[in-house]
Amino acid sequence: MSILVTGGAGFIGSNFVLDWIAHVGTPVVNLDKLTYAGNLENLANLHDDPRHIFVRGDICDRALIDDLLQRHKPRAIIHFAAESHVDRSIHGPGEFVRTNVEGTFTLLEAARAFWSSLPTEEKDNFRFLHVSTDEVYGSLGPTDAPFTESHPYEPNSPYSASKAASDHLVRAWHHTYGLPVLTTNCSNNYGPYHFPEKLIPLTIVNALAGKPLPVYGDGQQVRDWLYVKDHCSAIRRVLEAGKLGETYNVGGWNEKPNLDIVHTVCTLVDELRPKPDGTSYSTQITHVSDRPGHDRRYAIDARKIERELGWRPAETFQSGIRKTVQWHLDNPDWVANVQSGNYKDWVARQYAQ
Ligand code: NAD
Ligand code: DAU
Repeated sequence: MSILVTGGAGFIGSNFVLDWIAHVGTPVVNLDKLTYAGNLENLANLHDDPRHIFVRGDICDRALIDDLLQRHKPRAIIHFAAESHVDRSIHGPGEFVRTNVEGTFTLLEAARAFWSSLPTEEKDNFRFLHVSTDEVYGSLGPTDAPFTESHPYEPNSPYSASKAASDHLVRAWHHTYGLPVLTTNCSNNYGPYHFPEKLIPLTIVNALAGKPLPVYGDGQQVRDWLYVKDHCSAIRRVLEAGKLGETYNVGGWNEKPNLDIVHTVCTLVDELRPKPDGTSYSTQITHVSDRPGHDRRYAIDARKIERELGWRPAETFQSGIRKTVQWHLDNPDWVANVQSGNYKDWVARQYAQ
């Protein structure tokens, strides 16, 4: 039985596809539009693997989704595809509404039609798992308790508002139509294949390139960091045992101010790739203007998923960030291609024959 993954060429989606093939091994139909954030080079190890079926396409294309569902009859849809970068949403919110809201709506409608047509046993086993974010809950004060699943929705950026809207659609499709949905709201991920527009990979690649390491405002904004492979295992666990219609918060129990993150990365790069002149990469840190409407603090209370499904992250921040820095040092071609834009040619080069 296959699964349909949307956005499986992005950062988390590609880690999930690799993780799924390694741990579960059943076929994955991977639907991805290959926007600037989609990189098939992430999935190069699956090039000759018949269990990975890549389809370039848009989640707003209802006819395409209907066709894929009829052709592959997946037992589940794992929905990652989204515009995901807050700064881009500030400059151009339209694409966020289109993909995150309209795309999720289109996928839900196609899933509902497909699911309604299934025989009883397959209908009972079908799942629609929606991958969402902690940003839908808004911003916390320094002493506020971390977000639980019942925290009110208070999205502050065009990105988080569009993700909040998609969460509401998913919820409504369960309550109104009985679609068997599950939603996960996760904190900040980091790890391999992370596009270097986000804080951690940007810091690593800019450090190595001798460029400034931009820190917004005072750098005291707090995020809760989770190694991406732990997010993948949480999604597998929710898919396997999550209660229909429920949401599960996923986090790393690892709140840190941005400036600490940047210093930690610099210290690791100092150790693993010391500068010839002996100075620290931290000398490249540059404070720049703050992000408009910048949320001050996110923190996830991940006790529900631990209590009900027995999931906890396997990595500590120390182990995960070391692996992440080492991965970037071990994969200079990936880093170079993503920086030069050559990763866009990957499909043509790799699939030329
Ligand atoms: P990403 O930007 O790295 O990847 C998004 C992928 O979706 C890309 O491959 C892109 O080509 C694809 N895509 C975009 N628009 C599409 C469309 N219209 N049709 C089909 N494919 C499309 O994102 P990510 O960081 O991997 O995040 C994946 C999901 O996880 C998102 O839904 C995001 O909201 C959520 N999330 C991310 C984080 C994080 O820290 N990155 C944390 C929590 C939740
Ligand atoms: O919390 C989950 C969210 O985490 C996901 O839903 C988003 O898809 C994902 O992009 C991420 O959002 P953030 O805005 O938290 O991630 P980003 O890496 O862009 O920024 C992390 C923090 O670092 C944030 O407070 C802004 C700051 N920052 C970011 C960049 C890119 C800087 O100080 N300098 C930078 O150059």
